[in-house]
Amino acid sequence: MKEKIEQLIAQMTLDEKLGQLTQEFLTDSRMEEMEEKAEKGELGSLILANSAMAGANEQEKLQLSKLNKIQRAAVEKSRLGIPVINGRDIIHGSRTVFPIPLAQTATWDYELIRDAAAVMAEEASKEGVHWTFAPMLDVCCDPRWGRIIECSGEDPLLGCLFAKASVQGIQGNDMSKPGKLAACAKHFIGYGASSGGRDKDAAEWSDYSLRNRALPAFRAAVDAGVATVMSSFNEISGQPATASKYHLTDILRHELGFEGFVISDWDAVLRLKCQGVSEDDETSAALAINAGVDMDMVDCVYKNNIKSAIEKGLVSIERVNDAVRRVLKVKFELGLFENPYFDEDVSPQQIMTCENIQKAKEVSEHSMVLLKNNGILPLKKGEKTVAVMGPYAEEKEALMGSWHAGGRKEDVVSLAEGVTALNGADKTVSYPCCAEDMWIHSGLSDTYIVALGESHHITGEGTTMVNIELSAGQIDCAKRAKEMGKKVIAVIFAGRPLGLESLLPWCDAVLWAWHGGTACGTAAAEIIFGDFNPCGKLPVTFPRSTGQIPIQYNHQRNELGLRWYYEQAHYVARNTASTPLFEFGYGLSYTEFEYSDFGFRVNEKENVAEISCKIRNTGEFDGWEIAECYVNDVVASAARPVKELKAFEKVFIPKGGTKDVVFRLTKNDLSFYDIRGNWVFEPGDFVIEIGKSCKDICFAERKYISLKR
Ligand code: GLC
Repeated sequence: MKEKIEQLIAQMTLDEKLGQLTQEFLTDSRMEEMEEKAEKGELGSLILANSAMAGANEQEKLQLSKLNKIQRAAVEKSRLGIPVINGRDIIHGSRTVFPIPLAQTATWDYELIRDAAAVMAEEASKEGVHWTFAPMLDVCCDPRWGRIIECSGEDPLLGCLFAKASVQGIQGNDMSKPGKLAACAKHFIGYGASSGGRDKDAAEWSDYSLRNRALPAFRAAVDAGVATVMSSFNEISGQPATASKYHLTDILRHELGFEGFVISDWDAVLRLKCQGVSEDDETSAALAINAGVDMDMVDCVYKNNIKSAIEKGLVSIERVNDAVRRVLKVKFELGLFENPYFDEDVSPQQIMTCENIQKAKEVSEHSMVLLKNNGILPLKKGEKTVAVMGPYAEEKEALMGSWHAGGRKEDVVSLAEGVTALNGADKTVSYPCCAEDMWIHSGLSDTYIVALGESHHITGEGTTMVNIELSAGQIDCAKRAKEMGKKVIAVIFAGRPLGLESLLPWCDAVLWAWHGGTACGTAAAEIIFGDFNPCGKLPVTFPRSTGQIPIQYNHQRNELGLRWYYEQAHYVARNTASTPLFEFGYGLSYTEFEYSDFGFRVNEKENVAEISCKIRNTGEFDGWEIAECYVNDVVASAARPVKELKAFEKVFIPKGGTKDVVFRLTKNDLSFYDIRGNWVFEPGDFVIEIGKSCKDICFAERKYISLKR
């Protein structure tokens, strides 16, 4: 491969090289223009989207025959026959839509996340896509930010889980194989800390925090072999990420060893002028390519300015060749030179198969989090009439979330449909609103399933919300039902964590169903009627109110050592509790799990700290349990968080059964970046905890640990 790449580079004109570093957006109206550019060898990549908000609005159906026509122009008519690579935002599903990434992370399940990624890649590969702009790996603890739904929450370790599983699912071990795509770890780096949760606002990161909180997931993606990385819009403490050589080259390439290519975000190079680091496009092009951005997304700033930048000595031809080398390497690894065309004879049934829908249901079931249950759940199927009501009772589109690509609402199962399928049409009444309808139907049932949530249109890119409280009208649905003497089960379909404190008193049970995808209504109904025992645990904190934001379980300690997240601290909050409504790692089950027989030892031979326990299922239902292991580095050369998730085990335990669990912490697990950016392990005392959540701790011991260097 290397020889072929060097031979191509040796033959390429500068225009052809700049063509390889340019991604253009494709719509029907631009087909001919793109075909011409491809024929001239000046089109390296297409993004199959008419705007950066592609995931949130209808996309025209791009015909495979037309995509093949453009590819034929590139491969068979251009001088060097370099194929075009088609990118698209396949974030959590192509035709079969899976739960949003934040929900998938709530499964704490590598296999399920990997399988979801594999299905979406397999479907997208039949629909004209070679490369997806996923996984999104921004760490975030601010639910005002609409894009929190796309990430894996506030914890670095879960971010690593999501990164590894997603890259493996999307690329497999050989991304030239059928059904595999190139993945893209995004947005490098720090986007999730946009000030005030305002999308694309500046992000204030110390290098210490950035390295210890935002970087781990990207390291995991690079270690998993991710083919590409996307530079982010945000500024990091004065440096726009897209113009930051420190982040895109020194850290990403030299420290992490990334060997793929970097693409900018949509128009991000063009926007450097807006961020005040460039007067003109030529300077912007030079800043970005010298920082480490190889391909320029849709603004054509590279194509139009790099030639003059080279003439002025602002950019070297060696850097251009390096960027082209990286792009060609991915195209070879994708097998595009051998198999550049799509099979046009693919039916919709061959894309959204029953197996894919079944997998989406499984992921959705494992992602849902039971927040409250006074014993009313599970219901018995067909035992009594239930009323399904509320603004999301019959909702379909919102359940697909904001980046649902080729998903179609007609394929989605609503909650009302899911409940009817299990409880029987004769025992289920549903109506999509609340208020007056309730009184009309009030005699029909003593059990109301109240479907609440948020629109997918206010989640995702460009959707900052200045408050996250559930609307009064929605709370009123549950309140009225309770005041009528009904049993109230709230099912909430949302992307970001919402403020639920005012809702809880009116509910006997609350199931957090997320924007759970095509099979979400079925999954929620199966949980309600006990066909599946809920096991999801929160990957992000649920604040009591907007005023608590930002709030995260792994917060830094302070000069008073206040653990305000864990115990009430009036110093921290005068007019409300300082603790969150629901903590990181929280989630209920229909059964009970009892932890016992704790053990701790340092295994000198294997140079690991081993923490063990037994978990017994003492309840009436088989179920999955996620056991969590937290560590607090008591004294270090830099202030470490009050605690950090360092390991977890998800185990299935039949009722009455017992499972042995062992957590193995390596030196690496206990290391951190010190304030000079060195990766260090410092022997000393660590408090080791085992818990059902970050607050519900079953075992805690302070131990001196000194693993061999
Ligand atoms: C958007 C998003 C990015 C997406 C890209 C292409 O602005 O920030 O996540 O992949 O543009 O749609």
